[in-house]
Amino acid sequence: MFPDPSAGGAAYLECTRCGARHPAEARLRLSPCCDKPLYARYDLDSIRERFQPSALVGREPTLWRYAEVLPVRDARFRLTLGEGFTPLLDAPRLAAALGLERVWVKDEGQNPTGSFKARGLALAIARAWELGIGVVAIPTAGNAGSATAAYAAAAGLEAHVVAPQDTPRVIVEEIRALGADLELVPGLITDAARRVAEGAASHGWFDLSTLKEPYRVEGKKTMGYELFEQLGGRLPDVIVYPTGGGTGLVGMWKAFEEMQSLGWIGPERPRMVSVQADGCAPIVRAWEAGVEDAGVWENAHTYAAGLRVPRAVGDFLILRAVRASHGAAVAVSDEAMADAVRLIGRTTGIFAAPEGGATAAALPVLMQRKLLRPEEEVVLFNTGSGLKYVTP
Ligand SMILES: Cc1ncc(COP(=O)(O)O)c(C=O)c1O
Ligand SMILES: [Zn+2]
Repeated sequence: MFPDPSAGGAAYLECTRCGARHPAEARLRLSPCCDKPLYARYDLDSIRERFQPSALVGREPTLWRYAEVLPVRDARFRLTLGEGFTPLLDAPRLAAALGLERVWVKDEGQNPTGSFKARGLALAIARAWELGIGVVAIPTAGNAGSATAAYAAAAGLEAHVVAPQDTPRVIVEEIRALGADLELVPGLITDAARRVAEGAASHGWFDLSTLKEPYRVEGKKTMGYELFEQLGGRLPDVIVYPTGGGTGLVGMWKAFEEMQSLGWIGPERPRMVSVQADGCAPIVRAWEAGVEDAGVWENAHTYAAGLRVPRAVGDFLILRAVRASHGAAVAVSDEAMADAVRLIGRTTGIFAAPEGGATAAALPVLMQRKLLRPEEEVVLFNTGSGLKYVTP
């Protein structure tokens, strides 16, 4: 049907703090040296010649089209429900309403389980499966839980999901329907994370928390490869990304580095803009203060469940990408997000998640602060479907 990509697989795992190398075949989570996120590194020199954009023509429209730069070695473990290669939609009326010339919306709501979390969990679970792991667990604000349930079901693995009590009802029903064991806990994703850590210690669950295992970010990075392909071999001036744990933002940043090593792009980069809710904005606070460690945001609150992440393990990676790209980090109110969901809806036909709304709400703020010029080309990430947040 489609031409098969050649084999993938990482050469080693690298500590993002000290650069030490660890074996790609070990079942590692954070780095054994510094307790920081690990990145999969590939032998890009050896694939450079055959892995060029022209090689992608005619490949299947899922993220597995980039198999050469993905960590799954054996094609039998390329678990798929059709994730990735979501449309990049030109949004001229949204652009005009915001006083910009060119705005695109990358509609991640069209992924399996209705959010971009499908990308990360397709990879993490495929790789766990390949490494012989039988039981996975995840703390989640919601969407990562349904993606985990879906891919675990597709692979035949056992999944435990722990989420806050007030997780959107549709997501709760979805996780249960997909056969995962779901536990609802009082508090936030950080409280859910403690419960998963206990389960990991006492029952041997493999914990898939954001950036605490090396492979979710590999799935998320495919958004960067897709932007390049879908824009016809270039990148936009600005990328606006709603940030909780920040995997998508750091993933795309990693993709751009790889693309440069592969000779697809030069040293130029889009400016990376991280958007958070004003009720939970640790990255914005750290960006403004000029520090690398974002710390914990107390009393986090926002109706955008995915942005209610009071502490990000990869804070220093998010802040590095934002700063190195001369980007920015801005916070918007829940009211502005909700208004922007309606604006996106009536100008594009996309029913965005509140997190997607946050990206459009950020544009007037960026313009007002002279961080964005009207003639610059912008990509907004609508990371999920609005359907998942409707309370029956
Ligand atoms: C719809 C949506 N958007 C954005 C985010 C934040 O994503 P990340 O943790 O990659 O920053 C989440 C996380 O739950 C989400 O569900
Ligand atoms: Zn280290």
